Amino acid sequence: MIHAEVDIIREAYNNGYLDEVARTSAIPGKNEFNLVTNIINRYLNEKDIIYDLGSGNGRFTDYYLKKGHMVGCLDLSENLMNYSLNHYDISAKALLFYKNCCVSNIDWIPSESADLCLAMGPFYHISDIEKRKKTISHLNRILKKEGLLIVQFLNIVPQTSSKIFKHYRIRKYDSHSDHANSHTYFGGYLVPQFRCNTEFAVQEFKHLFDVEEIRQLNHSDQNMKELSYNKTGGEISYNDQYLIVLRKKS
Ligand SMILES: C[S@@+](CC[C@H](N)C(=O)[O-])C[C@H]1O[C@@H](n2cnc3c(N)ncnc32)[C@H](O)[C@@H]1O
Repeated sequence: MIHAEVDIIREAYNNGYLDEVARTSAIPGKNEFNLVTNIINRYLNEKDIIYDLGSGNGRFTDYYLKKGHMVGCLDLSENLMNYSLNHYDISAKALLFYKNCCVSNIDWIPSESADLCLAMGPFYHISDIEKRKKTISHLNRILKKEGLLIVQFLNIVPQTSSKIFKHYRIRKYDSHSDHANSHTYFGGYLVPQFRCNTEFAVQEFKHLFDVEEIRQLNHSDQNMKELSYNKTGGEISYNDQYLIVLRKKS
Protein backbone atom coordinates (compact mmCIF):
# COMPACT_ATOMS: atom_id res chain seq x y z
CA MET A 1 0.00 0.00 0.00
CA ILE A 2 1.45 3.36 -0.93
CA HIS A 3 0.63 6.54 0.92
CA ALA A 4 2.92 9.38 -0.06
CA GLU A 5 1.25 11.77 -2.48
CA VAL A 6 4.12 11.65 -4.94
CA ASP A 7 4.05 7.83 -5.03
CA ILE A 8 0.28 7.73 -5.59
CA ILE A 9 0.58 10.18 -8.48
CA ARG A 10 3.47 8.24 -10.02
CA GLU A 11 1.71 4.89 -9.73
CA ALA A 12 -1.64 6.25 -10.95
CA TYR A 13 -0.05 7.70 -14.08
CA ASN A 14 1.99 4.52 -14.56
CA ASN A 15 -1.15 2.35 -14.36
CA GLY A 16 -3.33 4.79 -16.25
CA TYR A 17 -0.86 5.83 -18.91
CA LEU A 18 -3.05 4.47 -21.72
CA ASP A 19 -6.01 6.46 -20.36
CA GLU A 20 -3.85 9.57 -20.40
CA VAL A 21 -2.85 8.78 -23.98
CA ALA A 22 -6.56 8.34 -24.84
CA ARG A 23 -7.39 11.66 -23.16
CA THR A 24 -4.80 13.55 -25.16
CA SER A 25 -5.76 11.80 -28.41
CA ALA A 26 -9.50 12.54 -28.11
CA ILE A 27 -10.96 15.73 -29.59
CA PRO A 28 -11.07 17.71 -26.31
CA GLY A 29 -7.46 16.76 -25.58
CA LYS A 30 -6.42 17.87 -29.06
CA ASN A 31 -8.35 21.11 -28.65
CA GLU A 32 -6.64 21.70 -25.33
CA PHE A 33 -3.27 21.13 -27.02
CA ASN A 34 -4.07 23.56 -29.85
CA LEU A 35 -5.35 26.20 -27.48
CA VAL A 36 -2.31 25.92 -25.20
CA THR A 37 0.28 25.85 -28.00
CA ASN A 38 -1.40 28.88 -29.64
CA ILE A 39 -0.97 30.79 -26.40
CA ILE A 40 2.63 29.64 -25.87
CA ASN A 41 3.67 30.30 -29.47
CA ARG A 42 2.76 33.95 -29.17
CA TYR A 43 5.53 34.32 -26.58
CA LEU A 44 8.18 32.04 -28.10
CA ASN A 45 11.29 33.09 -29.95
CA GLU A 46 12.77 30.86 -32.61
CA LYS A 47 15.70 29.39 -30.72
CA ASP A 48 14.21 29.38 -27.23
CA ILE A 49 15.27 26.55 -24.94
CA ILE A 50 12.23 24.82 -23.44
CA TYR A 51 11.90 22.61 -20.37
CA ASP A 52 8.73 20.49 -20.26
CA LEU A 53 8.30 19.68 -16.57
CA GLY A 54 5.54 17.13 -16.07
CA SER A 55 5.83 16.17 -19.72
CA GLY A 56 3.43 13.20 -19.56
CA ASN A 57 3.22 11.37 -22.87
CA GLY A 58 5.55 13.91 -24.48
CA ARG A 59 3.12 15.72 -26.79
CA PHE A 60 4.56 19.17 -26.03
CA THR A 61 8.14 17.89 -26.03
CA ASP A 62 7.63 16.29 -29.45
CA TYR A 63 5.92 19.36 -30.90
CA TYR A 64 8.63 21.79 -29.79
CA LEU A 65 11.49 19.47 -30.80
CA LYS A 66 9.94 19.30 -34.28
CA LYS A 67 9.72 23.08 -34.33
CA GLY A 68 13.50 23.15 -33.88
CA HIS A 69 13.76 24.04 -30.20
CA MET A 70 16.17 22.47 -27.76
CA VAL A 71 13.98 20.70 -25.19
CA GLY A 72 14.47 18.95 -21.85
CA CYS A 73 11.71 16.93 -20.22
CA LEU A 74 10.92 15.22 -16.96
CA ASP A 75 7.97 13.43 -15.43
CA LEU A 76 7.14 11.24 -12.44
CA SER A 77 5.71 8.46 -14.58
CA GLU A 78 8.21 6.18 -16.30
CA ASN A 79 5.44 4.57 -18.38
CA LEU A 80 4.36 7.90 -19.84
CA MET A 81 7.98 8.83 -20.50
CA ASN A 82 8.68 5.51 -22.22
CA TYR A 83 5.56 6.05 -24.32
CA SER A 84 6.92 9.39 -25.48
CA LEU A 85 10.14 7.78 -26.72
CA ASN A 86 8.37 4.95 -28.54
CA HIS A 87 5.34 6.75 -29.90
CA TYR A 88 6.88 9.99 -31.06
CA ASP A 89 10.14 8.42 -32.08
CA ILE A 90 12.00 10.84 -29.85
CA SER A 91 15.60 9.92 -29.14
CA ALA A 92 16.61 10.62 -25.56
CA LYS A 93 19.87 11.89 -27.06
CA ALA A 94 18.00 14.63 -28.91
CA LEU A 95 16.88 16.02 -25.58
CA LEU A 96 18.78 18.29 -23.23
CA PHE A 97 17.57 16.02 -20.46
CA TYR A 98 15.08 13.19 -20.13
CA LYS A 99 14.56 12.37 -16.52
CA ASN A 100 12.14 10.45 -14.39
CA CYS A 101 11.80 12.58 -11.29
CA CYS A 102 9.72 15.00 -9.25
CA VAL A 103 9.70 18.62 -10.36
CA SER A 104 10.51 19.68 -6.80
CA ASN A 105 13.88 17.84 -6.98
CA ILE A 106 15.64 19.67 -9.76
CA ASP A 107 18.84 20.92 -8.13
CA TRP A 108 20.66 19.22 -11.02
CA ILE A 109 19.16 21.60 -13.64
CA PRO A 110 21.61 24.48 -14.21
CA SER A 111 20.58 27.98 -13.15
CA GLU A 112 19.40 30.44 -15.80
CA SER A 113 19.42 27.80 -18.54
CA ALA A 114 15.83 27.91 -19.93
CA ASP A 115 13.91 30.52 -21.89
CA LEU A 116 10.59 28.86 -21.21
CA CYS A 117 9.37 26.28 -18.70
CA LEU A 118 6.10 24.40 -19.04
CA ALA A 119 4.52 23.08 -15.86
CA MET A 120 1.37 21.52 -17.29
CA GLY A 121 0.49 19.07 -14.55
CA PRO A 122 2.53 19.29 -11.37
CA PHE A 123 0.83 22.35 -9.86
CA TYR A 124 -2.58 20.73 -9.83
CA HIS A 125 -1.19 17.69 -8.05
CA ILE A 126 1.27 19.01 -5.47
CA SER A 127 -0.75 19.89 -2.38
CA ASP A 128 2.05 20.53 0.09
CA ILE A 129 2.49 24.30 0.23
CA GLU A 130 6.20 24.08 1.14
CA LYS A 131 6.84 21.76 -1.78
CA ARG A 132 5.03 24.18 -4.09
CA LYS A 133 7.23 27.02 -2.79
CA LYS A 134 10.38 24.96 -3.29
CA THR A 135 9.32 24.16 -6.86
CA ILE A 136 8.51 27.80 -7.66
CA SER A 137 11.90 28.84 -6.31
CA HIS A 138 13.64 26.26 -8.55
CA LEU A 139 11.64 27.39 -11.58
CA ASN A 140 12.78 30.94 -10.93
CA ARG A 141 16.38 29.76 -10.57
CA ILE A 142 16.51 27.72 -13.79
CA LEU A 143 14.85 30.35 -15.97
CA LYS A 144 16.92 32.98 -17.72
CA LYS A 145 16.28 36.63 -16.96
CA GLU A 146 12.72 37.50 -18.09
CA GLY A 147 12.14 33.84 -18.98
CA LEU A 148 8.59 32.56 -19.29
CA LEU A 149 6.75 30.08 -17.16
CA ILE A 150 3.46 28.50 -18.27
CA VAL A 151 1.52 26.84 -15.47
CA GLN A 152 -1.75 24.94 -15.60
CA PHE A 153 -4.13 24.96 -12.61
CA LEU A 154 -7.46 23.41 -11.68
CA ASN A 155 -10.25 25.80 -10.74
CA ILE A 156 -11.25 25.60 -7.10
CA VAL A 157 -14.77 24.51 -7.98
CA PRO A 158 -14.95 22.35 -11.07
CA GLN A 159 -16.52 24.50 -13.78
CA THR A 160 -18.38 21.48 -14.98
CA SER A 161 -21.83 19.93 -14.96
CA SER A 162 -23.19 18.43 -11.74
CA LYS A 163 -22.86 15.04 -13.42
CA ILE A 164 -19.10 15.55 -13.38
CA PHE A 165 -19.01 17.25 -10.01
CA LYS A 166 -20.07 14.11 -8.20
CA HIS A 167 -16.89 12.38 -9.32
CA TYR A 168 -14.78 14.81 -7.36
CA ARG A 169 -14.34 14.43 -3.66
CA ILE A 170 -13.61 17.94 -2.60
CA ARG A 171 -12.30 18.31 0.88
CA LYS A 172 -11.65 21.41 2.91
CA TYR A 173 -13.73 23.44 0.52
CA ASP A 174 -15.92 26.28 1.64
CA SER A 175 -16.99 29.40 -0.15
CA HIS A 176 -14.31 31.46 1.65
CA SER A 177 -11.45 29.18 0.63
CA ASP A 178 -9.03 30.19 -2.05
CA HIS A 179 -7.61 26.68 -2.38
CA ALA A 180 -8.84 23.13 -1.81
CA ASN A 181 -7.91 19.49 -2.20
CA SER A 182 -9.93 17.07 -4.27
CA HIS A 183 -9.43 13.55 -5.52
CA THR A 184 -10.24 11.83 -8.74
CA TYR A 185 -10.20 8.12 -9.54
CA PHE A 186 -7.45 7.45 -12.01
CA GLY A 187 -5.20 4.49 -12.72
CA GLY A 188 -6.76 2.55 -9.85
CA TYR A 189 -5.98 5.21 -7.24
CA LEU A 190 -7.72 8.11 -5.59
CA VAL A 191 -5.37 10.70 -6.95
CA PRO A 192 -4.89 13.96 -5.04
CA GLN A 193 -5.65 17.15 -6.89
CA PHE A 194 -4.88 20.68 -5.75
CA ARG A 195 -7.37 23.39 -6.71
CA CYS A 196 -7.12 27.12 -6.28
CA ASN A 197 -8.62 30.32 -7.54
CA THR A 198 -6.59 32.64 -9.71
CA GLU A 199 -5.89 35.05 -6.84
CA PHE A 200 -4.25 32.28 -4.82
CA ALA A 201 -2.23 31.16 -7.85
CA VAL A 202 -0.98 34.65 -8.61
CA GLN A 203 -0.10 35.20 -4.96
CA GLU A 204 2.09 32.09 -4.96
CA PHE A 205 4.23 33.37 -7.82
CA LYS A 206 4.10 37.14 -7.60
CA HIS A 207 7.26 37.70 -5.50
CA LEU A 208 9.30 36.20 -8.36
CA PHE A 209 7.13 36.50 -11.47
CA ASP A 210 4.91 39.04 -13.23
CA VAL A 211 1.66 37.81 -14.74
CA GLU A 212 1.42 38.11 -18.52
CA GLU A 213 -2.01 36.53 -18.91
CA ILE A 214 -4.55 34.22 -17.32
CA ARG A 215 -6.68 32.05 -19.60
CA GLN A 216 -9.56 29.80 -18.67
CA LEU A 217 -9.40 26.68 -20.83
CA ASN A 218 -13.16 26.37 -21.15
CA HIS A 219 -13.84 28.01 -24.45
CA SER A 220 -17.04 26.65 -25.89
CA ASP A 221 -15.81 27.49 -29.37
CA GLN A 222 -13.01 25.00 -28.82
CA ASN A 223 -15.43 22.22 -27.79
CA MET A 224 -13.71 22.14 -24.42
CA LYS A 225 -16.97 21.04 -22.86
CA GLU A 226 -16.93 17.71 -24.62
CA LEU A 227 -16.32 14.76 -22.41
CA SER A 228 -14.42 11.59 -22.78
CA TYR A 229 -14.23 8.59 -20.51
CA ASN A 230 -11.44 6.64 -18.97
CA LYS A 231 -11.38 2.97 -18.27
CA THR A 232 -11.15 3.34 -14.52
CA GLY A 233 -14.61 4.78 -14.21
CA GLY A 234 -14.02 8.48 -13.89
CA GLU A 235 -15.35 10.90 -16.43
CA ILE A 236 -12.70 13.38 -17.42
CA SER A 237 -13.75 16.90 -18.12
CA TYR A 238 -11.60 19.41 -19.86
CA ASN A 239 -13.17 22.62 -18.80
CA ASP A 240 -12.09 23.11 -15.24
CA GLN A 241 -8.57 24.29 -15.89
CA TYR A 242 -6.82 27.56 -16.44
CA LEU A 243 -3.41 28.58 -17.53
CA ILE A 244 -1.21 31.40 -16.30
CA VAL A 245 1.65 32.84 -18.32
CA LEU A 246 4.29 34.28 -15.99
CA ARG A 247 7.49 36.20 -16.67
CA LYS A 248 10.48 36.04 -14.35
CA LYS A 249 11.05 39.45 -12.84
CA SER A 250 14.17 41.19 -14.12
C1 LIG B 1 -2.52 15.29 -16.92
S1 LIG B 1 -0.84 14.91 -17.18
C2 LIG B 1 -0.36 16.18 -18.35
C3 LIG B 1 0.90 15.81 -19.08
C4 LIG B 1 1.41 16.83 -20.11
N1 LIG B 1 1.91 18.02 -19.47
C5 LIG B 1 0.33 17.15 -21.10
O1 LIG B 1 -0.31 18.21 -20.96
O2 LIG B 1 0.12 16.33 -21.99
C6 LIG B 1 -0.05 15.44 -15.68
C7 LIG B 1 1.40 14.99 -15.62
O3 LIG B 1 2.06 15.64 -14.52
C8 LIG B 1 2.96 14.70 -13.98
N2 LIG B 1 3.28 15.13 -12.61
C9 LIG B 1 2.42 15.33 -11.59
N3 LIG B 1 3.09 15.72 -10.50
C10 LIG B 1 4.41 15.77 -10.82
C11 LIG B 1 5.59 16.08 -10.11
N4 LIG B 1 5.56 16.44 -8.83
N5 LIG B 1 6.77 16.01 -10.76
C12 LIG B 1 6.83 15.63 -12.07
N6 LIG B 1 5.73 15.31 -12.79
C13 LIG B 1 4.54 15.38 -12.18
C14 LIG B 1 2.22 13.38 -14.03
O4 LIG B 1 3.08 12.27 -13.92
C15 LIG B 1 1.54 13.50 -15.40
O5 LIG B 1 2.32 12.95 -16.42
